[in-house]
Amino acid sequence: FQTHREFDAHELVATCFDARSGLNAIIAVHDTSAGPAMGGCRIAPYQDMDAALTDVLRLSRGMTYKNIMAGLPYGGGKAVIVADPKAQKTPALITAFARRVGQLGGTFVTGEDVGTTVEDIQLMRQVTPHVRGIPENGPGDPSPMTALGVFCGIEAAVRHRLGRGDLAGSSVIVQGLGAVGFRLAELLHRAGVRLIISDLDPQRLTAARTAFGATIIEPDRCHAAEADVYAPCAMGGGMNARTIPELRVAIVAGAANNQLSTPTDGERIASRGILYAPDYVINAGGVISTALEGPGFDRAILLARVKRIATTLEEIFGRAAGQKLATSQVAEEMARERLVIARTRATQT
Ligand code: NAI
Repeated sequence: FQTHREFDAHELVATCFDARSGLNAIIAVHDTSAGPAMGGCRIAPYQDMDAALTDVLRLSRGMTYKNIMAGLPYGGGKAVIVADPKAQKTPALITAFARRVGQLGGTFVTGEDVGTTVEDIQLMRQVTPHVRGIPENGPGDPSPMTALGVFCGIEAAVRHRLGRGDLAGSSVIVQGLGAVGFRLAELLHRAGVRLIISDLDPQRLTAARTAFGATIIEPDRCHAAEADVYAPCAMGGGMNARTIPELRVAIVAGAANNQLSTPTDGERIASRGILYAPDYVINAGGVISTALEGPGFDRAILLARVKRIATTLEEIFGRAAGQKLATSQVAEEMARERLVIARTRATQT
């Protein structure tokens, strides 16, 4: 484990085993300078512990960047449980995991992710207070706020790159019509956007075509369709050496996590003159929604905070243009700058 490249960048990496429930998990706390590490709990049938470790370390660092760029008083962390969520997820497993989260005493706060549901989080809440995403405590499902943040981000990108004051008459490809993508398509449709859509699920496609009069495109060719904006809202890793040369858009701005296959893919997109909205900045609406839940939850404050994603993106776009850097490089630079400030403050208190 210690030989792992990301390992020493983390404050804490805890393995969690429980023979009785079969729990086999890793909790990674990347950075707590800005506050407790917050990140979801993913349940997936990883091939081995090394694959699980690689994923959790990458994701927890990503959460530090996401939270600090969203201006939240949280650091970054993530948990993975090695299990098939369909076949091996039991109440005993969830409870055993929650006990481990509780043992960390609030250093790590967790919530829903791939493989976990609101019901799982509610069960965890019976064991530890250090969970977020309980519908009774605030906004509930984070996806609508993720979609709103992406919508505002697309508006900012279109303003910056195409000089248009609004989206009416623009065209956007939405890849993936799930919890986020469908809502994003709805917002775009209302703003007068011409939609090109793709999904693996025929029912979702039919629903979106009927509701928004959208044009359907084959999933494997959707990145290569011609439009103003490409909004990846399905899986990560879609921007790579094969797909980037085939893009026929001015802007890439969508909800999917980890869109760049490698860090240099950000530069590859920029070198084609395409404006990329860094994923962990534009898709932060959900985490903002989760962070603001609790007593005194105020929807107006939440909406204002989510809309501020556009302002952060404008700063990134402006700096990238001024310094002739890729937006991915500038976002990383800004996240590091903010981390240095948070670390200095943390050591002074
Ligand atoms: P989801 O699972 O509800 O929807 C994903 C959709 O993509 C499904 O309809 C699926 O059929 C489709 N899909 C999968 N592979 C595809 C392909 N190759 N081509 C076209 N469509 C494909 O997921 P959700 O919640 O909408 O999230 C979408 C993305 O946004 C994910 O990458 C997620 O990590 C990210 N994200 C989601 C947040 C949220 O609040 N739900 C927050 C931040 C990021």
